Amino acid sequence: MTVTTGPVPRPELAGLAAYSSVAPGPVPVRVRASSNEAPGGLAGPVRAAALAAVGGSSRYPLIGGSDLATALAGSLGVAAAEVAVGDGALPLLDRLLMAYLRPGDEVVMAWRSYEAYPLSVQVAGGRSVCVPLSPDGAHDLPAMAAAVGPATRIVLVCNPNNPTGTVVPWDALVSFVDALPPDVLVVLDEAYTEYDERPRPETAVLPALVARGNVVVLRTFSKAHGLAGLRAGYLVAAPAVAGAVRSVLPPFPVSTVAVAAALASLAHPEVLEERVFDTRVERERVRALLAARGTTVPASYANFVWLPLGDRAAPFAELCREHGLLVRPFAGEGVRITVGEPDLRAVLAEVLAAWS
Ligand SMILES: Cc1ncc(COP(=O)(O)O)c(C=O)c1O
Repeated sequence: MTVTTGPVPRPELAGLAAYSSVAPGPVPVRVRASSNEAPGGLAGPVRAAALAAVGGSSRYPLIGGSDLATALAGSLGVAAAEVAVGDGALPLLDRLLMAYLRPGDEVVMAWRSYEAYPLSVQVAGGRSVCVPLSPDGAHDLPAMAAAVGPATRIVLVCNPNNPTGTVVPWDALVSFVDALPPDVLVVLDEAYTEYDERPRPETAVLPALVARGNVVVLRTFSKAHGLAGLRAGYLVAAPAVAGAVRSVLPPFPVSTVAVAAALASLAHPEVLEERVFDTRVERERVRALLAARGTTVPASYANFVWLPLGDRAAPFAELCREHGLLVRPFAGEGVRITVGEPDLRAVLAEVLAAWS
């Protein structure tokens, strides 16, 4: 027998789960509602800016994506030193973990939440401490606070939460942060914040949050800005924290084309506003359709709805697939359906008619 030896990856990677994707079923896909993307392709001015930038792409973009960071700082009311940009919110979270996690450090998170969190923590050599959601699908902040111990380095709060669409009340969030040790970083993942219509009190506006020193706000151009395929995201934090993340980012963290599209999206807020308005209206119509067929759906503050179907989640998703509707099942828990595609309700109505 030949014994082969070769390079061995870090032991932390053993058993790493794959980031899941939903495969098409036996019939052609009619509506893709499984990845929380925005519908409709790039909007006019954003598309024009992206295409114009393609021609100049033999040159590197500005180092550190500084043009995008400066524009974001201006629109968010923070200093450019408080911003780090990257090729998506998830790559930025990975770099934050790289910058702050020591081997064996703990990251407290709600569960179920964004599926990438435990994978990223594992890759970074940390340990995920998962705190079950409340029965209504919301973060259980008292239980999360109780899970914070001497080994806790980071607490993740996904607000609105993927996949349940629930939010943390602003005052509860602020009290939660107040009660944590100041050397624990609180990452507020606001990937879906644009769809959340709740006004923020002064204590929860972005500059006030990051002024606390241990709060990191993570956002993306993938969702309401509609640029998931181009890859751009940002985080906002105290200068020392944002600087630590920038120090471990590659020198050119966002492509020329993605920067151009993101800048155009910031320059044309009406595009985002219209998309968000339409999505919210559609979200409530989808909830009403489901309620009319006896499926209660928790209020959602994101561009998706959550059906807490328990053991019936996988069969429901399979039935959807047979009708050409791709949704995201979490076996034994529920199904997440992205709203926004114009044909969603028609196809969903067909599925519900066939669902006993
Ligand atoms: C809660 C949450 N955070 C982060 C991300 C990643 O976003 P990006 O495409 O910017 O990496 C997602 C994507 O689905 C998400 O749902």
